[in-house]
Amino acid sequence: MKHLIGLRDLSSAEILEIMTRADDISQNGSRHFQQSYHQHQTFVANLFFENSTRTRFSFEVAQKRLGLQVLNFQADVSSSQKGESLYDTLKTLEAIGVKGVVIRHEQNGVLTDVKNRLQLNLINAGTGDEEHPTQALLDLLTMKQEFGKIEQLKVAIIGDLRHSRVFHSNLYALGKLGATVLIAGPQSLMPKQEFIAKHPHCHVCTVDEAIVQADVVMMLRIQLERHRDALNITAEEYLQTYGLSLERAKGMQQHAIIMHPAPVNRNVEIASELVEARQSRIFKQMRNGVAVRMAVLEQLLL
Ligand code: CP
Repeated sequence: MKHLIGLRDLSSAEILEIMTRADDISQNGSRHFQQSYHQHQTFVANLFFENSTRTRFSFEVAQKRLGLQVLNFQADVSSSQKGESLYDTLKTLEAIGVKGVVIRHEQNGVLTDVKNRLQLNLINAGTGDEEHPTQALLDLLTMKQEFGKIEQLKVAIIGDLRHSRVFHSNLYALGKLGATVLIAGPQSLMPKQEFIAKHPHCHVCTVDEAIVQADVVMMLRIQLERHRDALNITAEEYLQTYGLSLERAKGMQQHAIIMHPAPVNRNVEIASELVEARQSRIFKQMRNGVAVRMAVLEQLLL
């Protein structure tokens, strides 16, 4: 694997290989770190053209634990402000010796456009609404650690699906690994029918139907700042109609877990009390993000 652009491009064996390595790192981290000091001359750069807390910092922690030299690009003071293209920015980094670039960008297709013209390795940290592969890998690792397997799990993904790169990466990977995906949310934010039809493991449900059947209840952030007018709904109404309220959570199976890629809108898509409840794995997902990103960097760079 030269680049990690999306999970749609990977085989189930490639996805499982990264998850196995990430699981090993998460269980035996300190042993791993001691062996990695020799990487001190390998430079990587983090290019975030969109805001991020978890992805950006967990990549940086992962890079530093591997002994990589980390460069953090600041888009607002870079020559991209003078009109330099993304391709020319990446060629510049390549020319000065950067081996790998982690990139978040608001536009779909930007990595596909440049990937075959670069020697350095690209890692997608979230592009447009198309994919966020390392988020889905950490989600899968969290599920695998909980249930021992992904095959035959029922994963409910609820919220703004149409605009969600997290949903897309999870949908592709869960299908390859034999899980069923139950989707629910506001009609205007559901994927288009022709997209759903291409993924036979994906089933449209009501929010209540999805929650009572699921092994995993994955809530997605509703971007109320963008959709409030379109939905004509308050935060409280959203929680009661489409969110994981305290009442709805009582209908979850005893063994089921709650996940959310975060940032979380407490009391919008999920009741605040549930974020740190017994069933929640939201902070475990974040912890697993470091191990997954170490495994991906190791596979591409080392
Ligand atoms: N889950 C996620 O991608 O969070 P950030 O936007 O904070 O990186």
